Amino acid sequence: MIKTAVTGACGRMGGLIIENILKSGNHELVSAIDITNIGRDIGELKGFGKLDVPVDDANDIASALGRSKPDVLIDFTIANASVENVVESAKHKVNLVVGTTGFTQEQHHIMESAIIDNGVSAVISPNFSIGVNVFWGLLEEAAKRLGDFDVEIIEAHHNKKKDAPSGTAVKAAEIISRTLGGKEYVYGREGLAPRGMEIGIHAVRGGDIVGDHTVLFAGDGERIEIKHQAHSRQAFAKGAVKAAGWVAGVKPGIYEMRDVLNIK
Ligand SMILES: NC(=O)c1ccc[n+]([C@@H]2O[C@H](COP(=O)([O-])OP(=O)(O)OC[C@H]3O[C@@H](n4cnc5c(N)ncnc54)[C@H](O)[C@@H]3O)[C@@H](O)[C@H]2O)c1
Repeated sequence: MIKTAVTGACGRMGGLIIENILKSGNHELVSAIDITNIGRDIGELKGFGKLDVPVDDANDIASALGRSKPDVLIDFTIANASVENVVESAKHKVNLVVGTTGFTQEQHHIMESAIIDNGVSAVISPNFSIGVNVFWGLLEEAAKRLGDFDVEIIEAHHNKKKDAPSGTAVKAAEIISRTLGGKEYVYGREGLAPRGMEIGIHAVRGGDIVGDHTVLFAGDGERIEIKHQAHSRQAFAKGAVKAAGWVAGVKPGIYEMRDVLNIK
């Protein structure tokens, strides 16, 4: 059994990840960590019945990790918190799956240094669904052939999402930009805003939309739209638990979800 801990255990993704851990047959939930509901049984809290796993306080994550000794920690929290959780876990030689989004370049650098310096493995991805990982590959293929087309990325999420644009949209822009040798980004358009060769990125927030991403390649007299829509958070949670099983058995390093899925 892979001893698995979850930070952000009480959140939307945390609850689903725990459900997937319980169903997996090869993971054991050894610690549920959050900043709320400390001491309450996570199973009762999330409606799975008593699990005898009380919520551990994220403010003392070192004690929680020292006591539960996980092989891997899955983090779906918020960027500032995630960086601290990753650094502390790496110090405790715990492998990582990081699904949190909204990191700055500097925060990425801090996490990557901690992972490398402590010789652990990590899968870091702004999207753990199989579909989005295939979608990113399709964008690369389209960009190779449509270099002179205008590119616009439109994403839509629920009204509780804190960061914008989504990590998935940012990664889509990075993939297209890299394929085309470097592009400027324009976030939204307002006032006098003539179009150049930039990538336009647009975020929509409303209701309970789980996550939609559309990339528009528009040329003279035609356009292609490549679109992914998540119907349920289960697509991400299942992928994250699969990544946790995978990362526990690979050599130290930083990986992407496409490594887990073996998508080249
Ligand atoms: N990579 C993916 O596939 C994917 C998919 C969905 C969401 N996300 C990202 O996952 C993150 C969480 O999303 P959510 O919808 O579950 O949010 P949420 O607000 O429902 O849950 C976040 C949880 O983290 C907890 N938390 C805050 N600070 C903490 C800390 N220091 N340590 C431990 N827990 C802490 C909060 O109390 C909350 O319970 C966001 O960044 C979101 O963009 C990623």
